[in-house]
Amino acid sequence: MAGGAIVSTSNKQYGGKMTSFVLLACIMASSGGLIFGYDIGISGGVTSMDSFLEKFFPSVYAKQQADSSTSQYCKFDSELLTLFTSSLYVAALIASFVASSVTRVSGRKWSMLIGGVTFLVGSALNGAAVNVLMLILGRVLLGIGIGFANQSVPVYLSEMAPANLRGTLNIGFQFMITIGIFGANLINYGTASIKGGWGWRVSLGLAAVPAIIMSVGAFILPDTPNSLIERGYGEEARQMLQKIRGTDDVQEEYEDLVAASEEAKTIKSPWANILQSKYRPQLTMAILIPFFQQLTGINVIMFYAPVLFKTIGFGGEASLASAVITGIVNVFATCVSIATVDRLGRRALFLQGGAQMFISQIVVGTLIALKFGVSGEAVELSKGYASFIVLFICVYVAAFAWSWGPLGWLVPSEIFPLEIRSAGQSITVSVNMFFTFVIAQVFLLALCHLKFGLFYFFAGWVVIMTAFIYFFLPETKNVPIEEIILVWKRHWFWGKFIADEDIHVGNHMHKDTSA
Ligand code: BGC
Repeated sequence: MAGGAIVSTSNKQYGGKMTSFVLLACIMASSGGLIFGYDIGISGGVTSMDSFLEKFFPSVYAKQQADSSTSQYCKFDSELLTLFTSSLYVAALIASFVASSVTRVSGRKWSMLIGGVTFLVGSALNGAAVNVLMLILGRVLLGIGIGFANQSVPVYLSEMAPANLRGTLNIGFQFMITIGIFGANLINYGTASIKGGWGWRVSLGLAAVPAIIMSVGAFILPDTPNSLIERGYGEEARQMLQKIRGTDDVQEEYEDLVAASEEAKTIKSPWANILQSKYRPQLTMAILIPFFQQLTGINVIMFYAPVLFKTIGFGGEASLASAVITGIVNVFATCVSIATVDRLGRRALFLQGGAQMFISQIVVGTLIALKFGVSGEAVELSKGYASFIVLFICVYVAAFAWSWGPLGWLVPSEIFPLEIRSAGQSITVSVNMFFTFVIAQVFLLALCHLKFGLFYFFAGWVVIMTAFIYFFLPETKNVPIEEIILVWKRHWFWGKFIADEDIHVGNHMHKDTSA
């Protein structure tokens, strides 16, 4: 009912090959995911280091030392600390709106560069921090960097890629996020054992490495043909298109881009326009997809893996080791979607991943309930039992890593028409950041009150989002980005929002072979 890819007449003609130029450009741009991932991976570990807490959050440290309660669910509950972690997300949320204008008016490249450089300054401030103010200021700069990067990189990748490889190339972004998380997990593992109490400085300061990689990359990168045309550089755009597609025969795709840009010119404010009913399908996705992505509960694992593993009875070392294990699973499972997303399609991955996440969350919740019950009385977990929990957490992470993880960034970046693409992507970023923030804020409290039910809570959301995808998300694989409007037009529900005269694509289109 809700599926069915549209195959446009032009699709086959300009579905391109992977040229080394486009591959290289996309790998470089993907490195924007590194800064986001590094931060996700580093914060949880740093905020559980004693020396860090003692220096910046002495009251939290004292409370933790004095905590002799036996409940396994209500440890480490500190709003001050979660506020520190979360300040970054608030900054990113606001920054993504500024980034939206930069990305549209000056090009994708400049947003990426601003993102990299701001993150770099933030990491220097954090690594050198002598007081909480420096710490928070640094974190705000990191947030601004991430806001710019996440706003521009997915759009850049989706515009550079040939239609039939768009999923694969775009997921490079998520792949770099997972590398960033994993690298950060490893670094924390190492720095936690540094004697002298300055390990956290190394962890925070090393954020400069992904920032430099990203900044250098963004500096060298060319801009996308779509953005070049949008800004009036028609001839440069044609040459760029020939270069990234590896052929001189780019006329049809070029016409699509020009048509999209003509349409874009008629629009003065993307913000007022995005509210028109013809953009209702895309706007709905821009909001719901990142919302659902966070309601999978993934960041409970990503931020709190060390805390979580401690809670379920692993010692300090073992909990970091477990975080490393989930980090590796996250990286490798992402490759599954890189390899399959343009063949199986987005919907298949969403639906399979949803089912797998649901099952593993129910299993994890139940395993924890059986041991700790409602009271959360500490019990000794056998090695076997504990590894069983870790195993199912890994099954869950894997499912996320080939479904909602990458697709949560890919799908929003490929469904918007050019005139509102930049604005749409910044909505996606801010919704994502907002709910990441909310979940980071309430997790420790929620664990304390909902106990094992927290896992059932997220499992319930996974059912809702999977049903939503089934009914409301049309397949977008292999459809040229400036022709996606046709996919919406043909959808059983969204079609009625789009009038025939709202469809502007290059002249060669207008007839649809699959009709
Ligand atoms: C999400 C992050 C998450 C990460 C895990 C990303 O797609 O946006 O919130 O931490 O995946 O790999």
